[in-house]
Amino acid sequence: MNLLVTGGAGFIGANFVLYWLNKYPKDTIINLDELTYAGNLENLKTVETNPRYKFVKGDICNPKLVNQVMEGIDTVCHFAAESHVDRSILSPSTFIETNIVGTHILLEAALKNKVKRFHHISTDEVFGSLELNNSSKFDERTPYNPRSPYSASKAASDHLVRAYWFTYGLPITISNCSNNFGRFQFPEKLIPLAITNILEGKKVPVYGDGLHVRDWLFVEDHCRAIDLIIRDGKVGETYCVGGLTKDISNLEVIKKILKILNKDESWLVFVKDRPGHDRKYSIDWSKIKNELGWHPEEDFDLLLEKTVSWYKDNRNWWLRLKKAEYEKYYKEQYKNL
Ligand code: NAD
Ligand code: DAU
Repeated sequence: MNLLVTGGAGFIGANFVLYWLNKYPKDTIINLDELTYAGNLENLKTVETNPRYKFVKGDICNPKLVNQVMEGIDTVCHFAAESHVDRSILSPSTFIETNIVGTHILLEAALKNKVKRFHHISTDEVFGSLELNNSSKFDERTPYNPRSPYSASKAASDHLVRAYWFTYGLPITISNCSNNFGRFQFPEKLIPLAITNILEGKKVPVYGDGLHVRDWLFVEDHCRAIDLIIRDGKVGETYCVGGLTKDISNLEVIKKILKILNKDESWLVFVKDRPGHDRKYSIDWSKIKNELGWHPEEDFDLLLEKTVSWYKDNRNWWLRLKKAEYEKYYKEQYKNL
C-alpha cells in the first residue's frame, strides 16, 4: 500500500506511522503534518531516514498541496485535527478550519485521485454524554449529540466523510474511539499532564468533582484496530473502538498515577469544572470484535505503569514541550495554579 497519513507527527499518528512501517515492510507512507504545537518530529526520529517514509510539512486546508501529495496514494489515514477540548472552548475557530474544512479538502482530493480507501479517525465524543451509574454504552447506532466545539467539529467531519460515500461513492471507513493513552501524548491531556506535573513537583488539577468517567484505550491497541479496519473493514461502515469495560473515574485514574509515583493525595487539587463537561464515555466495541476479531490486549493498570515509565524515561521529550506556547496556555486554562 501507498499510504497518506495526515497528522502523523501527533500522538496517535506517530504511533501509527511507526507501527505500520514496522509491520508492513513493502508499504510506503507520506506523512502530511502542519506541525502545530501538537506536532513533533522527534516522535519519528527512528524512521526519518527510512526510504519508505517521507515527511511533508503542510496544512490539510491547502488544496493545492493536498492534491499534490495525494498523487499515487491508494490509502488515506486521516488523523490531522485540533484535538484538545479545553483549547476548543478557549478558541474554537481553528477547530472549525482544520477539522471541518481540512477534512473536506482531503475528501475532494481523495475523490479526484481515486483513492481506494479513505479512513477517518474520529472520536466517541460525537455521541455526547452518558449518565453516571448507568450501564448504557455508545455504539455505531448511537445518535450524534456533540456538546463542545471540538466534538461538534469532529461530528461535522464524520457527516462529510459519510456524505462522500453515499453521494460520490468514495470508499470510506470511520472509527470512533475513546480516550487514548500511551507514549508521545502531548502533556495537555489528563494522563500525561498528571504524570509530568507530578514529576515536575506540581499538583494535578481535577475538574469539578472528579467523578467523570472515560473509557481508556491504549494507543497501540488503537493502531491495531485501524489496521484491521483498513485491511478487512467494510467500505462505508463505522467501527467503535474502546478500552476498559469497567467504569473508572478521573479521580481513580489520578490516584493510580499518584500510587505508581509514590505520592499521596495532597498532590491533587480540585479546580473549576470544564464548561459543558461530558459526564461519561463508554464504548461497546462488540462490532469490531465480532466482525474483525479485535480486542484490547492488556490490563489498564499494567499499561498505565508502562506509560508512567515512558514519561519518567523521556523527561527531555516533555520538558521541552512544556515551555513557551504551553506555559501561556497553562496560565490561561489553569489561572493561578
Ligand atoms: P494530536 O493533537 O496529538 O495531533 C494532531 C496532529 O495533527 C499534530 O501533529 C498536528 O501538527 C497535526 N495538525 C493539526 N492541524 C493540522 C493541519 N491543519 N494540517 C496538517 N496537520 C495538522 O492529536 P491525537 O491525539 O493524536 O489525535 C489524532 C486524531 O485522533 C484526531 O483526529 C482526534 O480527533 C482523534 N482522536 C483522538 C483521541 C485521543 O484520545 N487522543 C481519541 C479519539 C479520537
Ligand atoms: O473520548 C475521546 C477524546 O478524548 C478525544 O476525542 C480527544 O481528542 C481527547 O482529548 C480526549 O478528550 P477528553 O476531554 O476526554 O480528554 P482530556 O484528557 O482532556 O480529559 C480527560 C478527563 O479528565 C475529562 O473528564 C476532563 C478531565 N481533566 C482533564 C484535564 C486536562 C481534568 O480533570 N483535569 C485536567 O487538567
